[in-house]
Amino acid sequence: MDFQVNKLKHVAIIMDGNGRWAQNRAHRRVWGHVRGSSVVSNIVEKADDMGVKALTLYAFSTENWGRPPSEIRTLFLLLKKFLIKERNKVLKNNIKFNIIGDISKLPKDTVKIIDDLKRDSKDNTGLKLTFAFGYGGRAEIISAVNKLIAEDIEVTEESISNALHAPELGDVDLMIRTGGDQRISNFLLWQIAYGELYFTETMWPNFTCTEFEKIIMEVEKRERRFGQVTETESLAATKTQVKNNFRLIN
Ligand code: FPP
Repeated sequence: MDFQVNKLKHVAIIMDGNGRWAQNRAHRRVWGHVRGSSVVSNIVEKADDMGVKALTLYAFSTENWGRPPSEIRTLFLLLKKFLIKERNKVLKNNIKFNIIGDISKLPKDTVKIIDDLKRDSKDNTGLKLTFAFGYGGRAEIISAVNKLIAEDIEVTEESISNALHAPELGDVDLMIRTGGDQRISNFLLWQIAYGELYFTETMWPNFTCTEFEKIIMEVEKRERRFGQVTETESLAATKTQVKNNFRLIN
């Protein structure tokens, strides 16, 4: 039986390190993406088995447009292959698939595959699987604010949250980044406000379900206060302070 999540309902992952993984093995960077894409299906399955409600994966950022065209083409192709291969599993496992970001530059046949899977899985009630593709956190916030302005809606935390690309995902509870860097890289900037962060040195192609489960178990134990303290905690802290002051005086 897999460990079952309790607090960590929305998990987001920055799947980093594909290029370095390949280069360290004297392969071309794209080979890292190929290997990395096979890890994606394992992690999706594991997240589902552990009862994660939403899994959002950073597959292509707005900044990634600056990569060589051949690498961009490979990433497009891997997305298409993944969707073709995983389509039946997604539907069978009651997974709701979505993509956030700008996919207008993807080949037409890939966009159709995406739209078909979105449509056919839209009433599914299980794991919400979302790929961020052509995605940037700042662009998402700007688009939300512009929507509100256009509709003459007051800009509040709640109205911005509701105008994001996929409001039903809610805030991120845990963001994992593989590949050793400790950055957010413009991913889900609004949703991460109170999220837990976990950085691992493991390159994405080496990331396993076992490590994923270990991270979830470890972060589940962290205390999340959302900037608040309970009355009991506050009282306990005051008592300790008074005791320490008393010791100092005597
Ligand atoms: C970062 O590695 C990863 C990406 C830019 C894309 C993530 C893509 C995949 C995991 C494969 C595609 C799979 C699907 C299903 C869409 P990097 O190239 O920045 O690595 P580096 O930091 O070592 O250079």
